[in-house]
Parts: sequence; structure tokens; C-alpha cells
Amino acid sequence: MSSGAAAASEGEPAASGRPVVPELPVVPELPVVPELPVVPELPVVSGLAVAPGLFVTLEGGDGAGKTTQAALLEEWATGQGRRVVRTREPGGTDVGVLIRDIVLHHRGDVSARAEALLYAADRAHHVATVVRPALHRGDVVIQDRYLDSSVAYQGAGRVLGPGEVRDLSLWATEGLLPDLTVLLDLDPAAARARRDADDKPFDRLEAEQDDFHARVRGEFLSLAAAEPERFLVLDATAPAEEIAAAVRTRVAALLDARTS
Ligand code: TYD
Repeated sequence: MSSGAAAASEGEPAASGRPVVPELPVVPELPVVPELPVVPELPVVSGLAVAPGLFVTLEGGDGAGKTTQAALLEEWATGQGRRVVRTREPGGTDVGVLIRDIVLHHRGDVSARAEALLYAADRAHHVATVVRPALHRGDVVIQDRYLDSSVAYQGAGRVLGPGEVRDLSLWATEGLLPDLTVLLDLDPAAARARRDADDKPFDRLEAEQDDFHARVRGEFLSLAAAEPERFLVLDATAPAEEIAAAVRTRVAALLDARTS
């Protein structure tokens, strides 16, 4: 066999005089990656750092007048030149609104642990994305219900122990406790009369019997007795303006202490 034929197949000039180009390997086609949409970042602020704002929560049985007092306090604090964030649990975020619907309106039983976890999940997201960022900005956060509601309703009212429910919430919030908790104390019979007069459909917890609400009230009062510095207990049957004045006095003192 002639050696000339072998040389031509390896790029040497062929008989025609043109070099033979070796065949290129086939490159597999790259998959096209679609562009990802830009998701606006939530301002997640994690615990431990000292926050300059003021965190006020309102607690009490259903129908105790928390919403009225939150509105009066907001009006006053705004008038003092403070930036205010009014919020609530459950349902202070978009995720929380979905959770609120489950815990308040789901038909049929939700197991006690599942219910406690749902409230804690709502709280974890709310604190990380709304409450802590506001406190870090120096705002006054006025919030309808917080972890004391979980202890009172899921702890005392249900089958779980108050201590474990509280620990769950403290884990969820990286230990965030309010600077002030206003407890609007109301006898369950009076609360029921107010709710009946409201003419709104009852949610799952409102529909519970009076002895459940009596246990909830008892638990709120023992929480207040255990932390007298954090709690301000007020008689919810007093005139709204009188209650508001007592709340303002405490909040003003806390704000003064921060600025002095
Ligand atoms: P709320 O928003 O105060 O209801 P309403 O606007 O009808 O007064 O609270 C809804 C219910 O959720 C109330 O019955 C208490 C209950 N709850 C718990 O059981 N655990 C919790 O941790 C919280 C925040 C609320």
C-alpha cells in the first residue's frame, strides 16, 4: 500500500492539492435558561440586636375593645410626631392572611399542635418581615394580639401546656417580647354580650363556650401577674377615653425613657 494515501488523510495535501480538514466533534446544544423574574426582597431582620423603636401589644378576650384602643393610641402617637405601624396577629402579612383563614375559618378540627404551629408560623413571618424592621427604623409598633394570646388560647384553653406554647413562640420570634402589653380585662359574660350585640358571624374560637373564655381570661391574668413590668392591666368596661389615657401615660413614659 502506498504511504501517500495515509499522509493525505491526516491533513497533508491530498492528491487535489487542498489540505483535508479533520471533522470537528459535535458540541451538544446548551439548554436555554429562562431569565428569572426579580423577586422583591423582604426586609428580614433577625433577632438579638437592640431595637430603637417601641413595641406595644394589646391583649384580651374577644370583644374587649383592643381595636378601639389601638386606633386611639395610633392617633396620639402620630400626633407626637412618631411613625406608627399598626398591625395584628394572626394575619399581619400576606402569608399570615392565608394562615388566618385556616385557623379561624377551617371547618372541622385542627389538632392542637397543628393549631399552635400555625399561629407560631404566622408570628415568625410577621416578626421577621414587619415588626423587627419597623423597630429597627425606630417606629412605634402597635399590635393587636401577640404571643400572650397563644399562651392563653392554645395553652390554657386547649390541651397544650402554657410553657411549651410560649417557648414555641419565643423560638419563632427569636425571643422578641413587647416593651408594653396592655391587657384589656373583661368578664366572659360581658364579652359575650358585646359579641352578641356586634351581629358578626363568630369565628371558631369566639364560638367556644364561656368556660373556655373564663380559662383564657384566667391565663391572661396570670401572665400579667408573672410579668408586672411588661403588663398594664385595665378594666375593659371603663370608658374608652379613660382607658386610652392610662395607655398613653405608660407609652409616653416609655418613649421619654428612650430619648432621655
Ligand atoms: P382577632 O383578630 O382578635 O379576632 P377578632 O378580629 O374577631 O376580634 O383574633 C382572632 C382569634 O384568634 C381570637 O379568637 C384569638 C385567636 N388567637 C389565638 O388563639 N392564638 C393566637 O396566637 C392569636 C394571635 C389569636
